[in-house]
Amino acid sequence: MNTGVITASYIGAGALFILALSGLSHQESARRGNLYGMLGMGLALLVTIFGIVSDNYFVLLLGMAAGGAIGWYLAKRVQMTQMPELVAILHSLVGLAAVFVGYANALEHSGISGVEKNIHDIETYVGILIGAVTFTGSVAAYLKLSAKISGRPLQLPGRHLFNASLGVLAIIFGILFVQGSAAGDGLGWLVLMTLMALVFGVHMVVAIGGADMPVVVSMLNSYSGWAAAAMGFMLGNDLLIVVGALVGSSGAILSYIMCKAMNRKFINVILGGFGSATTAGGSAAVTAGDVGDINPIEADEAAQLLENAREVMILPGYGMAVAQAQHAVFEITKKLREKGVNVRFGIHPVAGRMPGHMNVLLAEARVPYDIVYEMDEINPEFPEVDVSLVIGANDIVNPAAQEVPDSPIAGMPVLQPWKGTTTIVLKRGMSAGYAGVDNPLFYKENTRMLFGDAKASVDAVLKLLSQ
Ligand code: TAP
Repeated sequence: MNTGVITASYIGAGALFILALSGLSHQESARRGNLYGMLGMGLALLVTIFGIVSDNYFVLLLGMAAGGAIGWYLAKRVQMTQMPELVAILHSLVGLAAVFVGYANALEHSGISGVEKNIHDIETYVGILIGAVTFTGSVAAYLKLSAKISGRPLQLPGRHLFNASLGVLAIIFGILFVQGSAAGDGLGWLVLMTLMALVFGVHMVVAIGGADMPVVVSMLNSYSGWAAAAMGFMLGNDLLIVVGALVGSSGAILSYIMCKAMNRKFINVILGGFGSATTAGGSAAVTAGDVGDINPIEADEAAQLLENAREVMILPGYGMAVAQAQHAVFEITKKLREKGVNVRFGIHPVAGRMPGHMNVLLAEARVPYDIVYEMDEINPEFPEVDVSLVIGANDIVNPAAQEVPDSPIAGMPVLQPWKGTTTIVLKRGMSAGYAGVDNPLFYKENTRMLFGDAKASVDAVLKLLSQ
């Protein structure tokens, strides 16, 4: 294929990826954004297969068929609540690919020498370093998110010193590798660094507490982008560099936004330990109040309260996703709106288990975008709200974040339904949320607990509203 055609196609694919990212930043345009992404990837694949690859088509097609089949199978099978762990394991593959490409590159004697060879070796070294950290870090994140290993942060004594030593050694080994490689050797240093980076990836992630895992996944997303960019340099492929940089920088921006949403400093997340005081990962018994202070409510009274309200705020969380209650929630919304009640949704940036989790569910149920608000927009409105309906949410409505200075989630911005007239909380029991932190909201005077699976409770309320 003509190099001009290849370059033009790569520029076209790069532009489509940029359009995809901009489309994905708004719910209304997200579908279009996805389409641009698919078109960009399709174009990139076609040009690479027909324009760049010149041999070994059988191996290429076999790899594509196997990879495509596994991807298709996983995408069909995965539950929405398992998306973060799927994303984590996919990142690990990017990291592994970068390690393989790096070694292939290091073993290939391309006949270059001098400064050019030094640059080539540095690219290889950095690519393998990022790839190896991404690989084992993502595998550890997958194991944690899928609860195959404990979500508690593993805090080894002297771990900061250990990490710092690995950082210094990585620089020293790098210098020795480049020098050795110039003399036709040096592979031993590369292997040593790889082993060290593999250990570092695991150590970095297992030291991080459950509540910080969303940031870690998006940080690994960013690393996988930089690993892809490094592969682009190694293979001399401009499109891979552009795409890697896009993924790397958007992952870094997302990590920053999530840290802000949780009022955490990025460096503290990386240093780890958040959530160690409690049972991160959920299921702890709540002890923020006296059991006697709990005010239960039944579906009929809840339906009455909703019907008689002027302003209703729905605050969905992870439990709504588990119960798959979003469609029934929208049915309730429609019923109440028919009765003249103003219903709005308040979305916390880290509600659920992945960025935009609640927005995806509400979009799937066809809730109109103009009644879905972000936390910062909606928090000042709570004093005017008659009934807040908290559906399977816990950490994101926990007043301890603001009222208990030594709480592990102290300082995290939260939705504030307790400032309204009545809060109805739908959950099955008194279990803690993801961060394993007690929730005083459940014991407040103006809070009523509607116990049961969220879907069953919403269905019961809907039935009563329909009568
Ligand atoms: P959580 O704090 O995890 O609370 C969810 C609550 O839903 C639980 O307390 C549980 O209580 C209830 N629940 C579970 N299944 C239910 C069902 N079938 N019906 C009714 N209730 C059910 O969720 P949240 O408030 O959405 O907060 C999200 C948390 O996850 C934050 O800590 C966040 O940092 C973390 N996180 C977020 C992400 C992203 S990026 N969004 C990724 C990973 C982790 P019962 O068991 O008593 O019913």
